[in-house]
Amino acid sequence: MPPSNNTTTEDAGNNAHDIKTMKLYNNVDRIKNELASRGMLNSDFIDPMALSDIDSMHYCGNSVIEDAVETMKVDSTSKILDIGSGFGGTSRVLAVASKCNTIALELQPDIHEMAEYLTGRCNLSELVHHKVGDILTLDLNKLGDGLSSFDGVVSFLVFLHIAEKKLLLQNCAKVLKPGGFLFIEDYYRRSSFSASEVESLSNDLFCNGNELPTRDVYISHLEASGFHNINFIDKSSEWTTYVTERLEKFIANRENFENVHGERTYLSLLHFYKAVVALFTGQHLGGVRIVAEKH
Ligand SMILES: C[S@@+](CC[C@H](N)C(=O)[O-])C[C@H]1O[C@@H](n2cnc3c(N)ncnc32)[C@H](O)[C@@H]1O
Repeated sequence: MPPSNNTTTEDAGNNAHDIKTMKLYNNVDRIKNELASRGMLNSDFIDPMALSDIDSMHYCGNSVIEDAVETMKVDSTSKILDIGSGFGGTSRVLAVASKCNTIALELQPDIHEMAEYLTGRCNLSELVHHKVGDILTLDLNKLGDGLSSFDGVVSFLVFLHIAEKKLLLQNCAKVLKPGGFLFIEDYYRRSSFSASEVESLSNDLFCNGNELPTRDVYISHLEASGFHNINFIDKSSEWTTYVTERLEKFIANRENFENVHGERTYLSLLHFYKAVVALFTGQHLGGVRIVAEKH
């Protein structure tokens, strides 16, 4: 049976309540609906790759995860922390691609429980270990084998929610071994946002636009936190195309989507996808992949 949300938000703190204002995160049942519509709800085993188009909340699919495996040279001896692991898709694909060991850390209890359920259904519970909590406040000593124990930290489309970048990056550095890799994808500020963009970032994406770093500020926070060999790869154009096509496909598939999830969920996600397109086409919002090494 899929989970019925037993983990409390106390495990994750107040941020787990606040982030639910975002329309991407308040339709968790859509995963169950998708499984049912594909005849996977009661099957014995789910192929993790067959989940990729429903369990991933980052851009450009599994190619990003394959890039991370190659760049960080992840293998079966690697210990990886996936911050803001969502429904766990990234961690499961990492496990399939490399047999590495991953801690999948997720803030929202209902998403965490669904992720843990899906990992069990994919027979990957020995490689992917789910934990609920906030990367800013949890006891880092209790994460995996504790401080300086991870070979890599990955995080896709999560840091945008966390305004306290200095503390966040310091925590990433603390859990990494010397020489360990940070591999993230995130938003950054290319140039000043309009007032309505700041409002949309806040209301639609749970992102504080006034605190979103520019390229230079991001790099200086990374350096101050103990990272070097910093590669800041701009993804703005690629992501603008991706989110625009995502919206077009979503609208074209309206009838099928509503048959499975209903009109309310359709309209809620439509609003979210449109807001993201407007922000990227405005060109003040940027997308970035950052690869950096801990000293
Ligand atoms: C856009 S989703 C991306 C999920 C996943 N990385 C993926 O690519 O599918 C961002 C996730 O980050 C989580 N998150 C946000 N702030 C967090 C924090 N402080 N600690 C842990 N997770 C956090 C959210 O709850 C959400 O599930």
